[in-house]
Order: sequence, then structure tokens, then C-alpha cells
Amino acid sequence: MLSKTMEKALNEQINKEMYSAYLYMAMSADTTHKGLDGFANWFMVQYHEEMEHATRIYNYINDHGGKVALKAIDEPPNTFKDPLDMFKKTLEHEQFITKSINDLVDQAKKENDHATEIFLQWFVTEQIEEEANDNEIIGKLEMVGNQGNGLYMIDRELAQRTFVSELPSEE
Ligand SMILES: [Fe+2]
Ligand SMILES: [Fe+2]
Repeated sequence: MLSKTMEKALNEQINKEMYSAYLYMAMSADTTHKGLDGFANWFMVQYHEEMEHATRIYNYINDHGGKVALKAIDEPPNTFKDPLDMFKKTLEHEQFITKSINDLVDQAKKENDHATEIFLQWFVTEQIEEEANDNEIIGKLEMVGNQGNGLYMIDRELAQRTFVSELPSEE
């Protein structure tokens, strides 16, 4: 059974994951508009992943005697300077999410809520991966100077990313 504090914190995390999805959808739209279809694909895959993160928490709350309460999702920025700017903002946002996940783990530990602590471990690992991916792409963009042929090559590479659902099936 989730405590009221944990229930509220998990509901807030659903909102943060939904905002993440919204942010990456906005980035996908902006790169589509600019003809960078590979970047657009990458951000759309990211959007799907974030929606799944929200669903993962939604299922967890429902399965552990909590009540899901959805809040309004903030408007994301809709225009970005260039791909490097987007990935810098992506990394910054993911660092904020990592902090939020870590705070949830701290709360679970404080309450001796072992089930929630174990549930959150997946997110801890996921955040390490997310930040590493963003750092790698930032490094590549900086290497090619964020333009020209190099940018075109990165766009082709990002076009390869596909969405694979990792959501555990609900019995
Ligand atoms: Fe996420
Ligand atoms: Fe994320």
C-alpha cells in the first residue's frame, strides 16, 4: 500500500514523464519542419519512450492501492535554435528527471517502502542510459560543428532508431 506522500510524488512523476514526452514531440515537430527527418525520428522514438515511462508509473500506482490523479501538462518550447541546442536542452531536462527519480528513491528508502524502491531501480538505470545517449550525440554534433555534411551524416544515423516497447505486460 502506497503512502499518501509516495502516491503524490509518483503522480507528480507521471506529469514529469508526460511533459518529457511533450517536449520531445515538440522537438520532433521542429526538426520535421526543418527537414531533419532523422532527428525528427529520434525525438519521436523518445516521445514514445516517455509515454511508456508515464504508463509504467500509472500501472504501478493502480497495482499498489493508489489513486492516479492527472495534472495539466505545461506547454513546451516549440522552436529551437538548432540540433545542438535541442540536445543540450534534452540533457538538461534529463538531468532534472534524474534528480527527481533520485528524490523518489530517497523517499521510498525513508518510508521503508521496498516495493517502490525496487520499482524505481528500472528508472535509475534508464536515466543513466538517457544521459549517456544525449552526451554522445552532443559530442558528435560538436565534432562536426553542428552543420553541413557532418550534420547530414548524424541525421542519417538518427533515422535508424526504432521504438521497442519495454513495458512489462499486465496480467
Ligand atoms: Fe522518462
Ligand atoms: Fe527521459
